[in-house]
Amino acid sequence: MNTSDRQPPRWPLPRGDYWSTPFAECLLNRLDLGPGLSVLDVAAGGGIPAFHIAERVGPAGQVLACDLHPAQVARCRAVQGGHLPWLRFEQADMRELPPDLAPFDRITGNLAFMFFRPDRFQALRQLVGFLRPGGQIVLTFPSLGTFDSIWRRVAEEMAARNCTREQDRLAEYIAERPSADDARRFLTDLGLSCVEVEDHPLEIASGPGEEFLHHPLLRGGFLDDAYECFDDARLAEEVMQAVAADMERMKPLIALRCVMSAWKEPA
Ligand SMILES: C[S@@+](CC[C@H](N)C(=O)[O-])C[C@H]1O[C@@H](n2cnc3c(N)ncnc32)[C@H](O)[C@@H]1O
Repeated sequence: MNTSDRQPPRWPLPRGDYWSTPFAECLLNRLDLGPGLSVLDVAAGGGIPAFHIAERVGPAGQVLACDLHPAQVARCRAVQGGHLPWLRFEQADMRELPPDLAPFDRITGNLAFMFFRPDRFQALRQLVGFLRPGGQIVLTFPSLGTFDSIWRRVAEEMAARNCTREQDRLAEYIAERPSADDARRFLTDLGLSCVEVEDHPLEIASGPGEEFLHHPLLRGGFLDDAYECFDDARLAEEVMQAVAADMERMKPLIALRCVMSAWKEPA
């Protein structure tokens, strides 16, 4: 088909989403997708990128999008209505999928790999078990190094107040985050081929003070974890207020969009 004949997608990635969409763009750039493929999308959330993938595989393909939380599944089904009938949203834990599930040509998961807890290697191994020989898996996650400038500033402010227990907890929290190296090692150890793992920096904009502390992305997914390092809520607020006032020293706020991709050898 001539490029000029191609219709714009009816289910594009949402333009106004400044977190899931930039990660999903990296995922789709790496994913080998075409009509007729069967795809399992894990940690599907609000359907990024399941809706878009379903449009790309077309009616000859199949997409099963699963999420742990029934409310997410209900929301996606409501948005879907009668569209894309070859796309199915189901409630399921990606770490405990039914063993009788037929294997898929592609497995995807946007902003997913960090949730493969507690044993990420084991969870990945199980998921790869649902990949057909010759199939590809592509997952994204914010990798170790994401918002390092914030964690350095929080640790510094903790140290200034002799908060050693809080500093230890922060160090534990950071060490628990998966890295691009972990992803590469896991995929290689599973015997997969064409392993490619890349970090793509993404700058997040924020002003100082309350704008930083209540930033919809930073607060929910990241700053809450810093608050949780404290037993004393007042001390937490004091430290975080001091950090938030010092925005200039934390700039730029960089997230690392890690894309991990690999293929299962053909049978
Ligand atoms: C950060 S959201 C990403 C959602 C979507 N893929 C996107 O890019 O917007 C992560 C999703 O993973 C889901 N989740 C977390 N643990 C899960 C698990 N064990 N099995 C399936 N879904 C899980 C959460 O309910 C949440 O909807």
